[in-house]
Amino acid sequence: MLGKIAVVGAGNVGATAAQRIAEKNLARTVVMIDVVEGVPQGKALDQWQSGPIEGFDTRVVGFQTYDQAAGAELFVVTAGIARKPGMSRDDLVKTNAGIVRSVSEQIARVAPASIILVVSNPLDVMCYVAMKATGFPRERVIGMAGVLDTARYRMFLAEALDVSVEDIQAMVLGGHGDTMVPLISYTTVSGIPVAQLLDQPRLDAIVDRARNGGAEIVGFLKTGSAYYAPSAAAVQMVESIALDKKRILPCSAWLQGEFGLRDVFCGVPCKLGRGGLERIVEITLTDAERTALHTSAEAVRVTQKVVDG
Ligand code: NAI
Ligand code: 2OP
Repeated sequence: MLGKIAVVGAGNVGATAAQRIAEKNLARTVVMIDVVEGVPQGKALDQWQSGPIEGFDTRVVGFQTYDQAAGAELFVVTAGIARKPGMSRDDLVKTNAGIVRSVSEQIARVAPASIILVVSNPLDVMCYVAMKATGFPRERVIGMAGVLDTARYRMFLAEALDVSVEDIQAMVLGGHGDTMVPLISYTTVSGIPVAQLLDQPRLDAIVDRARNGGAEIVGFLKTGSAYYAPSAAAVQMVESIALDKKRILPCSAWLQGEFGLRDVFCGVPCKLGRGGLERIVEITLTDAERTALHTSAEAVRVTQKVVDG
């Protein structure tokens, strides 16, 4: 258990993540911060009062400022605007870069030794903004996307195969966008390669649906984007860090030559523990997967340049 985890942005993803962190007893205190007056305070009070029912002692508190987050070991950054129908994640870039930059500066001020888990979109580029604004090493700036994209992919596979999702092992790499890279060669069903169980057209359709998983939900919600699965994904990463579980999860990380990529944030297999990003696991990819990973990373790089410019 950590002493203090701060969640910045008390909107749909942030508030749901804060509640999940408390329910899992991952920190003694959860601090929610949002620019909207009263919202983090009210949601925090409400969540704290669910403690006797859910069985947690975590104190959840809310503020507009960062002083109460001083010394937090981990920040989950969800501040920003979410997608509306017809918007790509990259459409959010200018607005959210300004927000994530100012949030990151505050984090560096009150908790210079903390780990930042970025959720705000466009995800990989917001990781870049956070890393630059804080000057933190790559071990302490990690992005959530691959866990969510993989969850969607696994769920669609389980449904198509009519098996428990518990038996689907898979990993989606690449940037969090239309170029994400589900690794079919590493997708197994209780150890059985998925290609033995589903033909290529059905696999292609599932990959396609996973790639558009976020947009499918935006299309229904109309006024916002997904948050139940995204908050669950972020908290799985929080849990691995807080409990030093050292899970291998697909996360956005600053690449320094791994997979032949450099100076770009991109989703790759990462070991997460109390030190944050403890290791990038360089796996062997097929030629097609490696090409797709590079294409995806180059798409991130283009938007990284937008925030530099
Ligand atoms: P939301 O609109 O419900 O919540 C965002 C919150 O951020 C709002 O409460 C807003 O007041 C707050 N905020 C804005 N500027 C702020 C600032 N400077 N400081 C503190 N708080 C600030 O949006 P939602 O659904 O929670 O999504 C949050 C972000 O996460 C969006 O950018 C969305 O695209 C992204 N997202 C990323 C996912 C991923 O896989 N990486 C998945 C789902 C959402
Ligand atoms: C998602 O994938 C919008 O990035 C968000 O649901």
